[in-house]
Amino acid sequence: MKSESESSLWGGWLTGGDSLLEEVNASVRFDQRLAFQDIDGSVAHAEMLGESGVISAEDAQSIVAGLEKVRAEIGAGTFVFDPALEDVHMNIESRLRDIVGPVAGHLHTGRSRNDQVAVDAKLWVRDAVDRLDALLAATVDLLAERAETHHADVMPGFTHLQCAQPVTIGHHLLAYGEMFLRDRDRLRDTRRRLGESPLGAAALAGTGYPIDPAATARRLGFDSITRNSLDAVSDRDFVLDFLAAGATLAVHASRLGEELVLWSTPQFGFVVLPEDLCAGSSIMPQKRNPDLPELMRAKSGRVFGNLMAVLTVMKGLPLAYSRDMQEDKEALFDSADQLELIVRSTAAMLRGITFVPERTRAAAELGNTVATDLADWLVTERGLPFREAHSVVGGLVKWLGVQGLELRDATAARLADFDARLAGLPAEVLTVDHAVRRRRSPGGTAPELVLAAARELRRRNAAQPARPTTR
Ligand code: ARG
Repeated sequence: MKSESESSLWGGWLTGGDSLLEEVNASVRFDQRLAFQDIDGSVAHAEMLGESGVISAEDAQSIVAGLEKVRAEIGAGTFVFDPALEDVHMNIESRLRDIVGPVAGHLHTGRSRNDQVAVDAKLWVRDAVDRLDALLAATVDLLAERAETHHADVMPGFTHLQCAQPVTIGHHLLAYGEMFLRDRDRLRDTRRRLGESPLGAAALAGTGYPIDPAATARRLGFDSITRNSLDAVSDRDFVLDFLAAGATLAVHASRLGEELVLWSTPQFGFVVLPEDLCAGSSIMPQKRNPDLPELMRAKSGRVFGNLMAVLTVMKGLPLAYSRDMQEDKEALFDSADQLELIVRSTAAMLRGITFVPERTRAAAELGNTVATDLADWLVTERGLPFREAHSVVGGLVKWLGVQGLELRDATAARLADFDARLAGLPAEVLTVDHAVRRRRSPGGTAPELVLAAARELRRRNAAQPARPTTR
């Protein structure tokens, strides 16, 4: 049972609860991460109340001064969060009362924890978006840089993880550059859409005090205010937007993680992972395990789970606020934390890996990867319809395969022997360099296109500068 003073949280109407209520209900253990946003919101609200004449200017001033003291205590780590006070909002208000006395009671005029938590969470997501976006922007630049270096180095391109056609390492890296640039765009979209301040919606219906929500919105850096007070306190779309954008980002990092795991095996040997980012084995002395790429891959699981959790929490809730919505926080914080780790690991890997172009070239030469080029040659030089050329080369590959050969091993005489129309084939057509050089269609793998695309990616990335992160 709570003590007398703790149970007076609700002003005496409620007698106070069982300790189970505190255990289930209290959120301060995790929502203390909203503390600075909560103080920002309260400062803006108090100043607005003072300016609008809802409370006296002196009261507003002492409240703001008190809140700044609370902020300093939290910053210094001396603030003690008490679960008996439920959440971060009540903890801060209670400490404010200790510091400034009963005048603290004016702060909550025309406000509810419902619009308070909505505004805090929006401010928090905004900061999280900015932090993640800055990390992503740097990662895209890294991809462009590494792609420039390897714009002409050939590697196998796969479909179905079977040898398909040669591409360049730069081209492959730039594919991830496109993905991460889209992720930045999704984050920007999330940020734009959360630009409406809900502060002023109060519990659900608005308030009778002559408040000025546009003023608090401006102070807090919002673009505008919400249009409907019920929606303002019921809406967690901005959490879902962030979690969904993060889930897609996690897919991209996971796929890169998977490729790094594969590429760093001796069987592939396309890359050497940075030694300081590899883990060893407790029994096998030779091991150099790709733990970081594996976790880039695995962490996507909980990021997806967090999105599912909040979708599920929200889907059955009647308007307006329900306590269920408190369950969005741990999912939100966890995804934000994991996504930062994922992107930092991605950047560290991109910075630290060494490509082995001899290996990637040798691998690109395996598996008849120039078969399409040979078919194309039959089309352009011998006038065959593509379907027929496809069938000729398919037959040739099969015929050579039976003899334990691949296209690259076939002599001119052997080719002409198989089909007279292959006589006079320039040897170059069966090389991987020729294969990549001729793919000049927009977005193709030709080295000069890849070089230009890397520069263009850098330019597009810089065209949406990351915002300076404050927290
Ligand atoms: N800790 C609560 C949350 O995160 C704050 C809002 C509480 N509002 C209420 N009406 N009980 O959702």
